[in-house]
Amino acid sequence: MLDHLHEATAYIQSQSNSFLPQAGIILGTGLGALAKEVEVEYEINYADIPHFPLSTVESHAGRLLLGRLGGKKVAVLQGRFHYYEGYTMQQVVMPVRVLKLLGISQLLVSNAAGGLNPDFNLADLMLIDDHINLQPTNPLIGANLDELGPRFPDMFAPYDADLLARAEAAAQELGQTASTRRGVYVSVPGPMLETPAEYRYLRTIGADAVGMSTVPEVIAARHLGLPVLAVSVITDLCAPGHLKPVVLADIFAAAGQAEPRLTALIRAVVAGL
Ligand code: HPA
Repeated sequence: MLDHLHEATAYIQSQSNSFLPQAGIILGTGLGALAKEVEVEYEINYADIPHFPLSTVESHAGRLLLGRLGGKKVAVLQGRFHYYEGYTMQQVVMPVRVLKLLGISQLLVSNAAGGLNPDFNLADLMLIDDHINLQPTNPLIGANLDELGPRFPDMFAPYDADLLARAEAAAQELGQTASTRRGVYVSVPGPMLETPAEYRYLRTIGADAVGMSTVPEVIAARHLGLPVLAVSVITDLCAPGHLKPVVLADIFAAAGQAEPRLTALIRAVVAGL
């Protein structure tokens, strides 16, 4: 496992003149446009990186971009891996671990999520300030990789308070406060969406939004000691009274609507790092 991580890292360094990124960014559904804002210096296909999983979801490209955003050196994962695709959790989080070995000091994550909080509107952004893990397993199960982090990582503050404050300040400067929320993200395995009773249950246990990603990567990042900022785009409304059959095209439309705001927010946070 560890040797795979080191081999993947060494390959990327060999293809990028040892580019040293300051921040890592995972582009979920709805943040694809951010890639266009990056002044790309190196572009590496996942398929060429030793031991890297390959993206199977059509809406996710499988590329690592190394370049500048807001004047800062960034590593952008264009395409992420989900447990429902059949990967192991170790595969799901491999890119996060490789970015850490490349040298990142912060991780910024985006995703699409269903809104459980009845106050949320379609295409709102939600800054994740805590999570509930309902995935059936997690990437730290098994022998601990002591070189990466401790056996029992603390999860008192999974989302970095300083990054959250920076994101809130950026939302204010950009005039986006009305559509920028804060809340708890619950991660479920998917790939089916939830039944009405399941949405009610997820709201009852304390979640504001539900999605199928992010938490495994955040667990791996916290194990590595990486501060995390994570942002959900609310792509469908799941509070009682709002519920209707989910149409994938509607999810992409809502993500597209939020994309300029999310891109501006992430760029502003990165620029200030
Ligand atoms: N449920 C789970 N995952 C999601 C949803 C949802 O309603 N919307 C976007 N991702």
